[in-house]
Amino acid sequence: MDIRPLTGGLGAEIHGADIRNAEDFDAIHEAFATYSVIVLRDQIAGPDDHLAFARRFGPINVNRFFKPVESHPEIAMVLKEKDQKEAVGEGWHTDHSYDQVPAMGSILHAIEMPPFGGDTLFVSMGAAYDALSPTMRGFLDGLHAIHSSRHVFGASVQDSEASKSGRLGNAEAATQDARHPVVITHPMSGRRGLFVNPVFTTHIEGLTPDESDAILAMLYDHCKQPEFQCRVRWQAGDITMWDNRATWHKAINDYHGFRRLMHRITVDGVALTP
Ligand SMILES: [Fe+2]
Repeated sequence: MDIRPLTGGLGAEIHGADIRNAEDFDAIHEAFATYSVIVLRDQIAGPDDHLAFARRFGPINVNRFFKPVESHPEIAMVLKEKDQKEAVGEGWHTDHSYDQVPAMGSILHAIEMPPFGGDTLFVSMGAAYDALSPTMRGFLDGLHAIHSSRHVFGASVQDSEASKSGRLGNAEAATQDARHPVVITHPMSGRRGLFVNPVFTTHIEGLTPDESDAILAMLYDHCKQPEFQCRVRWQAGDITMWDNRATWHKAINDYHGFRRLMHRITVDGVALTP
């Protein structure tokens, strides 16, 4: 197995591993804990193999809003058809941060890729936190923020293309609100990192709306610096797994006229602590 870091910030690509092989799991798990994003190239895996691999990490967290794969209700389809304009996940976000016990991570399998584009960007929230001044870190430590699914998956988005085309549904189930520390201690690595994101975080508790908006905008600008990022260029057959507690991600929607189909499985996590 050959593990190559993608950037100095986070991420690694792994060649020569097989997700179906139990003997490869310990090394894959260690790489995941070290790099937060791992790209397992050239996997020969069907939905059952994908599920079995995910279950080695923990119980499956079934997403309420994505259309599932027909034969496998635990697998969400992340799909953009060639005549569609909107992609899912275009804004910087952390999956499931609106849950009080947010998912550990997601495992995305590239089934059908456009001939170019459709990359995914990731940010290391630990690297972003480390680069803040001690004074700003001291201000943020101990604060809590509210996250919600309502404004993203709720009734107000029922007019969107994703909702009308059936890719997203279940808007009436978008009632989750969660309260998390703004700075968490990572449950596996113990590393401190920011845990707010532009899509699901609504506000920081204890601040006025203007103060909260200003602090969040400053943090979001800070986190978007390329020094904290890596970029995954997909090929069909690749499986990428990321740690929601340590990263943001963003889907690049630059492949209009082509179809892109991914299978996503999300794994349960634990409650987060400061
Ligand atoms: Fe996502």
